[in-house]
Amino acid sequence: MRNVTLEEVFIHPITQKYLKRSGMAHAIRVAEYAFEFSVKHNVNSDLATKAALLHDVGHYTWYRDGEWDYDLYKENDIHAIKGASRAHKLLIRIGEDRHAAKEIAVAILLHTDSYLPEGHLELKPLQYVVSLADEADEESGGKHHYRTINDVEAMERIRSLDKKIDGMKAKKQFNKII
Ligand SMILES: [Fe+2]
Ligand SMILES: [Fe+2]
Repeated sequence: MRNVTLEEVFIHPITQKYLKRSGMAHAIRVAEYAFEFSVKHNVNSDLATKAALLHDVGHYTWYRDGEWDYDLYKENDIHAIKGASRAHKLLIRIGEDRHAAKEIAVAILLHTDSYLPEGHLELKPLQYVVSLADEADEESGGKHHYRTINDVEAMERIRSLDKKIDGMKAKKQFNKII
């Protein structure tokens, strides 16, 4: 049994607040991609989908004169760092296993290298799957952050992912954490 379902993560007010800021439709699509890629790469789907759903919870709103300022964002953004910490706190609060919470937080920390000095990161499979899922849903100019989704469809898609993750668990496709 999983300690925490994706639905429990999704409905938490902290998740709702920050995903509405960074783009709910993007977060859900990335979680769906993460499920597909986790099956393909033999990664724990439970952790991959949670990390993917929460990967952008660290976003701040970079506004100048009432408009999103992409340069300001590029220059000052640390959303992966902030998101990793915020997601970790939330997961522990709702009863997630401590080791799982750490693996999810590190995958969020490394989902982008945009804030890091130039260089190549050696990603573990879980981290690779989450970054791949994010990339798969990216649109130019950050448009993926502005796509919308209604609450009913969002909940249906989260529940459908939970069923698939439970199915993977039942098949014992993954026993280890990453
Ligand atoms: Fe991101
Ligand atoms: Fe993203």
